[in-house]
Amino acid sequence: MGHFAALISLTDHRVPLAGLEPALPAPEAGALSTELQRRSPLSVALGRLLAACPPPSRGWIGRGRRGCRWRDSTLEAVSSQTADPADPVAQHLLPSSATIGDEGHLSIGGCDVVDLARTHGTPLFIYDEEHLRARCREAATAFGDGTAYATKAFLCTAMARLVADEGLCLDVASGGELHTVLRAGVDASRVVLHGNNKSDAELTSALEHGVRRVIIDSVDEIDRLDRIASGERQKVLLRVTPGVEAHTHEFVRTGQEDSKFGLSIASGAAHAAIDRLRGSSAVELVGIHAHIGSQVFDVSSFAQAAEVLARFFVPLDLAELCVGGGLGVAYLNEEAAPSITEWAAATHEALRAAGVPDDVEVTAEPGRAIAAQAAVTVYSVGTIKRLPDIRTYLAVDGGMSDNPRPVLYGSGYEAFDPARTSARRPEVARVVGKHCESGDVILPDAHIPEDMGIGDLLATPVTGAYGYSMASTYNKVPRPEVLFVADGVARTVVRRETFEDLASLDV
Ligand SMILES: Cc1ncc(COP(=O)(O)O)c(C=O)c1O
Repeated sequence: MGHFAALISLTDHRVPLAGLEPALPAPEAGALSTELQRRSPLSVALGRLLAACPPPSRGWIGRGRRGCRWRDSTLEAVSSQTADPADPVAQHLLPSSATIGDEGHLSIGGCDVVDLARTHGTPLFIYDEEHLRARCREAATAFGDGTAYATKAFLCTAMARLVADEGLCLDVASGGELHTVLRAGVDASRVVLHGNNKSDAELTSALEHGVRRVIIDSVDEIDRLDRIASGERQKVLLRVTPGVEAHTHEFVRTGQEDSKFGLSIASGAAHAAIDRLRGSSAVELVGIHAHIGSQVFDVSSFAQAAEVLARFFVPLDLAELCVGGGLGVAYLNEEAAPSITEWAAATHEALRAAGVPDDVEVTAEPGRAIAAQAAVTVYSVGTIKRLPDIRTYLAVDGGMSDNPRPVLYGSGYEAFDPARTSARRPEVARVVGKHCESGDVILPDAHIPEDMGIGDLLATPVTGAYGYSMASTYNKVPRPEVLFVADGVARTVVRRETFEDLASLDV
């Protein structure tokens, strides 16, 4: 195994051309417009310093600007000025077990991705099981017991079991997510229930099963619990909105007070809710929860939020503080993100400095940081349309139905051919799906290898979070198969949807 390094230029603050996500809120976006934060000088410096590229057994030459550059096991000295969008996909965007075989084929979990695509068909989600496990273990170690994986990022039975096996709780935000994790055999005492509009049925089910915590999101919910509860008092956290305004560079305030989630600290609503909770015989208030946003790239944002939260939290003399999720991940070659460990360290330090006692259980709820880089999606190219003097359209057999993030948020991705992973990507094409929407775009200006042809494979990395979980069956396009790969073995964890499945609800 070789060495690796993030090769950095602390003076390079260019904003990425793609991948911006502030136009619409990310799932439950919070106080900070995170994609705008991501290129703050501090974020760039931290991200670069912290970027961790797992050592491959065989490597390849990756991007220069911030990425890791490999040849077999040898670290190459690379100038930070060698960035070139035609460079191959960067190692740090791929699952941690990714290697390149002799013919240039990408291998994940010891399985040849080209073979998997041939055997299982496309589109295909391939998750590196060990990558998922390692991230879960990292989160469980970095934060306190009660730290949960946010299942909205990606959930299926196998994922629920894997997360529980690795010592994390599971955060669910609907009756469907609750049902899925319980059906997977996860003990309810390891489940945390979220939701800004929990129904009577969802609350009743949670209480009957004995979930670990209910995260109170509104006063109506307290009324509902008072009405529904019988038996033991349910332990709850109150979700508050810290109204964080970060004060550096491109940081923006996105109206945290104006949110459908939680109760405002500034307006006094949070304090009023605490009085209500303390007077309730149905629940026991054990802590406070806050989630400041998604795709947060700068640990100092978490630290600032933690400070605000601590000022509110300390006088309450409660035992638990959950700082939510939201740690960003790199989607593009030139991006880098802090690790879960670094996020936890910055949070702990800020809380300690703000007077939060050491015996308070500080927990978190990462979703994206655990699942996103664990997976790649593999498509087949079906049509190539060259419009002279305009552009080339390269159409694949999936699209906005298996990855709605580009359409929803304008999110950026990289693309590469997993049959020649280390090939340069000098051509530019618009990668589109097969849906009846002009907006069905996966990459508006993808850098792709030369001479891509019909039937070739095209892979997009970092699709493990908010891809399959946000998938639809638009145009009655069946949802893809999902594989977990490890130790040279691929197992189907979600089978490919069939046309009959699509009709199965019709009466
Ligand atoms: C309350 C809460 N916790 C955790 C998460 C997970 O966020 P992420 O996947 O960005 O870590 C979300 C995402 O929307 C959330 O709303």
